[in-house]
Amino acid sequence: MTPKPLALFVKRDGQPKRSAITCRYKCGNACFHEVPNTSGNEYFGDMVRAALTRRGMLKGSAGVVVAVGAAGVLAACGDDDKVDLAAGGSLVDGVPVGTNFAPVAANSDDALVIPEGYEHNVVIRWGDPLFADAPKFDANAQSAAAQAKQFGFNNDFAALLPIEGQANTYLLVVNHEYTTEPQMFKGYSKEAPALEHYQTAIAAHGLSVVQVKGESGTGKLTPEFGKYNRRITGTTEFTVTGPAAGSAFLKTSADPSGAKVLGTLNNCSGGLTPWGTVLSGEENINQYFANGDKVTDEAAKARLKRYGFPNGASERKWERHEARFDLAKEPNEANRFGWVIEVNPWDAAAAPIKHTALGRFKHEAATIHVAEDGTVVAYMGDDERFDYMYKFVSSRKVQSGNGQASMRHNLTILDAGTLYVAKFTGDHPDKIDGNGTVPSDKGFTGTGQWIPLLVTGEDGKATSKVDGFTAEEVSVFTRLAADKVGATKMDRPEDFEANPKSGKVYVALTYNEQRGAQGKPAIDEANPRNINKFGQVLELDDDHAGTTFTWNILILCGDPKTTDTYFAGFDKAKVSPIAAPDNLAFDDYGNLWISTDASRANGANDGLFSVVLDGPNRGETKQFLTVPFGAETCGPTVSEQRVTVCVQHPGERDDATAEKPASHWPDGGDSLPRPAVVSVWKKGGGRIGA
Ligand code: FEO
Ligand code: CA
Ligand code: CA
Repeated sequence: MTPKPLALFVKRDGQPKRSAITCRYKCGNACFHEVPNTSGNEYFGDMVRAALTRRGMLKGSAGVVVAVGAAGVLAACGDDDKVDLAAGGSLVDGVPVGTNFAPVAANSDDALVIPEGYEHNVVIRWGDPLFADAPKFDANAQSAAAQAKQFGFNNDFAALLPIEGQANTYLLVVNHEYTTEPQMFKGYSKEAPALEHYQTAIAAHGLSVVQVKGESGTGKLTPEFGKYNRRITGTTEFTVTGPAAGSAFLKTSADPSGAKVLGTLNNCSGGLTPWGTVLSGEENINQYFANGDKVTDEAAKARLKRYGFPNGASERKWERHEARFDLAKEPNEANRFGWVIEVNPWDAAAAPIKHTALGRFKHEAATIHVAEDGTVVAYMGDDERFDYMYKFVSSRKVQSGNGQASMRHNLTILDAGTLYVAKFTGDHPDKIDGNGTVPSDKGFTGTGQWIPLLVTGEDGKATSKVDGFTAEEVSVFTRLAADKVGATKMDRPEDFEANPKSGKVYVALTYNEQRGAQGKPAIDEANPRNINKFGQVLELDDDHAGTTFTWNILILCGDPKTTDTYFAGFDKAKVSPIAAPDNLAFDDYGNLWISTDASRANGANDGLFSVVLDGPNRGETKQFLTVPFGAETCGPTVSEQRVTVCVQHPGERDDATAEKPASHWPDGGDSLPRPAVVSVWKKGGGRIGA
């Protein structure tokens, strides 16, 4: 076929992609506050190179249920129409299977832009009712009571779980990372937020579970009032499990048990488990709390600082309406957020769980790979500049089957096992110049070691592997324990995803414009660019349940026309520009899909990209869609019949307000922008990218 010209960066002079309001409300100005990791730990120590045996793909042995990626649980189309997935990397007419679409060009439209020959629908948007008795969304008559029965704000992660026995019907499980009050509520006062605005905002956080029905012959999805529909909010009761449950660090005046927490906040990305539950990471939780400087215990104050908790008032000033957000009054409330949560969407009455064996940090997500013997490995990033990559390896094995007993067992898998942090060594210490120059032999490569931090036993008793730290301290103040053992400081580790086909693990490092700056940590081979504005994607060959790995950089993101970018050796004249890789997913052919957050390179809208991993086109990167003006592309799922993405914070610009919105997507006219989930499919049906 005739090659099409690929998208080039769109210039928007003087307009940084991520607006200041996004920084304030999404991540509590994580890019502007002082880097919380000021530990003196080294980056690359001497490490013994270990010969690794790659485990290869799952074989379904010993009770293993299924390998899951972000799209891994999605049902396939009719089998007679299937491509031979075992023939990975195969080309049809010279094009890798699954990526045969005309890439969309970079743009700054206030619209979802998809490839020619594709269609889409808005599946569900902020404020849409989840229950028959929920009010319809009315931007001028919002209330906490209404919001608690409606789809929440700023969707990030999405999972689609087929409902057994109901053809083409799914549970859509979505989280709601954060709220941007000035753009949600007319008449909002930043100086003195009204009680109703606080209550509506906290109800707009959390997660939604909603039944969606597919349309025969297309990828269209429509919400229904199903029996599993549920809202989890910033005030829903969670059960704490693992070594910090009941810890003195988690006890508050409202909860002397230290094991019942009201709400989940800032849930960013997530993952599916093979037993059909959904994990999500509590990320920038520091921003919801006030008065870190008024905490009197010096040790507690230092710990709060390492997690970036603010001094003085918080941006949203929730502390004025609820004392638990005032650290001067409830210093331990902070310790009750920053966990990986697990939601069982098949039981609308079940309390969701906060798993403390997986450590506490700014969790982006937890994504699961199941080893051959049924051991569960949860990969996790701490999304902050110069913070770390982690994994948890279970001691319990997955039990197959859909019965209650299996579910009860599987819901405890993340409560016993070992938490590790990653340390990297590069193969070319003398050849990394900070400019992105690629080592000429085999690129940026090296070895790595998983350093144990915490072992939680089957009896629930935990053992610290870090000198000077109790087990509870490692669990609750994981960042400080990881500092102590000399973990490698990364360029904002976001999403991980294990390739269900090869078992290799991919990691998105979004960017770190402070890498190598004055007084800041220097480059290393895994983080090889000074003032790294565009991010990189790592490929790990991990001994999943073991403690060693090898690695290489798959993509050094940015403008392919510049010398500091790299696309696994693929011809850079034939790739789409990509910046700020954030969430990852796999299609059924083993192609990696990457969504972006703040493509700072250019000021163009964020997008979703396919990346070929196998065969002669390895590294070929193509933009599949772009999201509307001001939005971020989140939570992709890619199946044979549809691609879904969460469109987060459309129209989020510094000068935008609810009175003067910067976007009117998706409803048009003079409407408020509404974060939403969209589904994209090939016109007339047929396989995506085939
Ligand atoms: Fe919420 Fe790290 O993105
Ligand atoms: Ca993210
Ligand atoms: Ca993000």
